[in-house]
Amino acid sequence: MFIPTGEPVVDRYIETGYDTVRGMSSRFAASVCTYILKRQAALGISGHFAEIGTFEGRFFIAMALALEPGEKALGIDLFDWPNDRVMDLFLGHCARHGVAPDRYIALKRDSRTMAPEELAGALGGGPVRFFHIDGEHADESLSRDLALALPLIHPQGLICLDDMLHPAYPRLVETVHRWLAAHPEWCVMLIVDREDIVAAAKYVLCRRDAVSLYEDDLMQRFEKQLFVLGGDFLDHIAVVLTPHPRLAEVD
Ligand SMILES: C[S@@+](CC[C@H](N)C(=O)[O-])C[C@H]1O[C@@H](n2cnc3c(N)ncnc32)[C@H](O)[C@@H]1O
Repeated sequence: MFIPTGEPVVDRYIETGYDTVRGMSSRFAASVCTYILKRQAALGISGHFAEIGTFEGRFFIAMALALEPGEKALGIDLFDWPNDRVMDLFLGHCARHGVAPDRYIALKRDSRTMAPEELAGALGGGPVRFFHIDGEHADESLSRDLALALPLIHPQGLICLDDMLHPAYPRLVETVHRWLAAHPEWCVMLIVDREDIVAAAKYVLCRRDAVSLYEDDLMQRFEKQLFVLGGDFLDHIAVVLTPHPRLAEVD
């Protein structure tokens, strides 16, 4: 599902270019997350976009195109799966879809061996305002990736986790809940529901004191995609956006 952001370059890519780049994030998630980048810019929250698990760049390109002047997109991947051609494909897709070489950095690295200082150095300073974690879906890797991201995040920035509640990784949310228990100032602000088994749900996390910057605005902007019950995390209700919201009919 494509929902225009109102930014022609971004909308053109998501509407007509997205499916020409192989990948796993949904077009719905790209619509919501690029809108969030625009919302952050309107609020004066500036910073970079970073992603672990860039693959051929499907989601990365949408986010890179939605950044403001002076901000950069950083993509980290092993770039060896399914073969060594993936980096060339990624670079070609960026060029074809208008991501200028001076607007992004690609690091062929294992995120588990990296330190936050390396990412900060690659970005040349400044915080990350949106960090997408979509690398290896295993407890240790996700824990390390969260530790890598956290020191770089803008105080009102977001960490987005892919493939939450995916049937192939049913226990990955345990890692998230353990991390949230260790970082009680953070919460899941938004759940972007799946479109398909290969375009699964994302959790978008922020500090609790930043929730009000996003949630009402998201509920208004995506009124037609709002699942009214929200996501019950016991101590708060996350916004839930889903392509076709409805409740079960009981009468
Ligand atoms: C599901 S794909 C990412 C899809 C992409 N984000 C999209 O939206 O189309 C997962 C990627 O994570 C990468 N990956 C897995 N483990 C990694 C690690 N330890 N460090 C860096 N990248 C890793 C894989 O090489 C693969 O390209």
